[in-house]
Amino acid sequence: MARQPRIVGIGGTQRPNSSTELLVRAVLDICEKHGAHVQLFGGEELSALPHFDPYSKERTEAENEFVEAVRQADGIVIGSPSYHGGVSGLTKNALDLLEDLRSDERPYFDGRPVGLLVTAAGWQAGGVTLAALRGIVHAMRGWPTPIGVAINTIEQKPFGPDGALIDEQLHAQIDAMAQQLAIGCIGLSQRH
Ligand SMILES: Cc1cc2nc3c(=O)[nH]c(=O)nc-3n(C[C@H](O)[C@H](O)[C@H](O)COP(=O)(O)O)c2cc1C
Repeated sequence: MARQPRIVGIGGTQRPNSSTELLVRAVLDICEKHGAHVQLFGGEELSALPHFDPYSKERTEAENEFVEAVRQADGIVIGSPSYHGGVSGLTKNALDLLEDLRSDERPYFDGRPVGLLVTAAGWQAGGVTLAALRGIVHAMRGWPTPIGVAINTIEQKPFGPDGALIDEQLHAQIDAMAQQLAIGCIGLSQRH
């Protein structure tokens, strides 16, 4: 691409060392190593977003920064924990705020690759939440990467004490997602 690709990560919980946030970070780290500009909206940043109100035009600085970052993104990574079998409210609140991109020339995630990651305390919730996220991304005109990743935080302990991803199998999946995001970004540059 003529310019450095920009990848925005969205995901995390209010829990320190959130596994969801660490997973999103792991994808962003690989993208960054390959030359992308990356920006993470983790648990802290997502928690700072007020409840989205589609009927108000008032936005906080944090809301504007988030919307603008996604507007400029060439690729997006979204992580969510599974809460009660679905996408967490914190994640969904941020995604709903992207309604502010509705009237853009390139609305929502239009035409851009979106990598999806889920953490859950069981396999079933991980699977259904990943499917739900894919549905959301389709509704928002994004292209989910072929690989999606769901981990079971009870059975898998993929992070070291410093938060680094130490599980080789999972690393291979995360690496594949980063590559698919890069391929999506190249495809994007060829359309313009
Ligand atoms: C309110 C709440 C609801 C949850 N519901 C489910 C669930 O339905 N199924 C499941 O497998 N895990 C469930 N979990 C477990 C979380 O998905 C799991 O702990 C997740 O990995 C937390 O992510 P974190 O490490 O980023 O905080 C729930 C956790 C919370 C706090």
